Amino acid sequence: MIRFKNLVKRFGERTVLRGISLDVRQGEILFILGTSGTGKSVLLKNIVGLLRPDEGEIWIDGQEVSKLTEEQYLPIRKKCGMVFQHPALFDSLTIHENVAFGLRRHFQFSEGEIGAKVKKALALVHLQGIESKRPGQISYGMQKRVSLARTVALEPEILLFDEPTTGLDPITTNAVNQLIQDLSHTLKTTSLVVSHDMQCALSIADRIVVLDQGSIVALGTPTEIKNSPVPLVKDFMAEVHS
Ligand SMILES: Nc1ncnc2c1ncn2[C@@H]1O[C@H](COP(=O)(O)OP(=O)(O)O)[C@@H](O)[C@H]1O
Ligand SMILES: [Mg+2]
Repeated sequence: MIRFKNLVKRFGERTVLRGISLDVRQGEILFILGTSGTGKSVLLKNIVGLLRPDEGEIWIDGQEVSKLTEEQYLPIRKKCGMVFQHPALFDSLTIHENVAFGLRRHFQFSEGEIGAKVKKALALVHLQGIESKRPGQISYGMQKRVSLARTVALEPEILLFDEPTTGLDPITTNAVNQLIQDLSHTLKTTSLVVSHDMQCALSIADRIVVLDQGSIVALGTPTEIKNSPVPLVKDFMAEVHS
């Protein structure tokens, strides 16, 4: 479980997260919705320790992590797989090597095991036969799927997705959404998905949290969110019907 207790994050004078308190339940798919610049990516980065909160606490599996040293944070990072908004693959490495990178770095697998894991992860995102290509030779959508495969290959307990389907075509978007659901069911992964796609959130989320200017303005099941009286939530809902 992940628990945020009154999390505050500032950049200089600017307060970006204004006291976030939230429990993410084991195995659930929680969607985080909000307009751009509202602190969604900052929230995810606080979980993996890329950013540290100014106030408040973050508990992961019973451990308060926000004040851990970089070294103490390593096992937490191993638990959390983050898929960044932009793919950020290594241009000079092949797709195979990109997906194998974390497996080599964090575990002691044989070459055979790594090969099998890379293949399986690429198959999960419907990419096959591109292992020897380099990122520059494939489309942006494919690069995004490779970055998903790279994280999924590590089989983390917690998966953090930052806008996994932004910039993807509808067919790939469906495949990625399906993948998030499959992983959650087969690996019992706890998933946090930053998105601005209410339609998708309504169809695959267990719960949805809506952020506005660094505060939680709505939290509930898809049905509860559908009936929310909060103006921003209604704006998101209006887009679903149009
Ligand atoms: N490392 C940083 N330094 C300074 N400001 C930042 C940093 N990261 C994010 N911000 C600011 O915090 C706000 C929220 O950013 P972000 O979480 O990326 O928004 P979004 O909800 O679109 O993901 C933005 O105004 C952004 O400019
Ligand atoms: Mg963002």
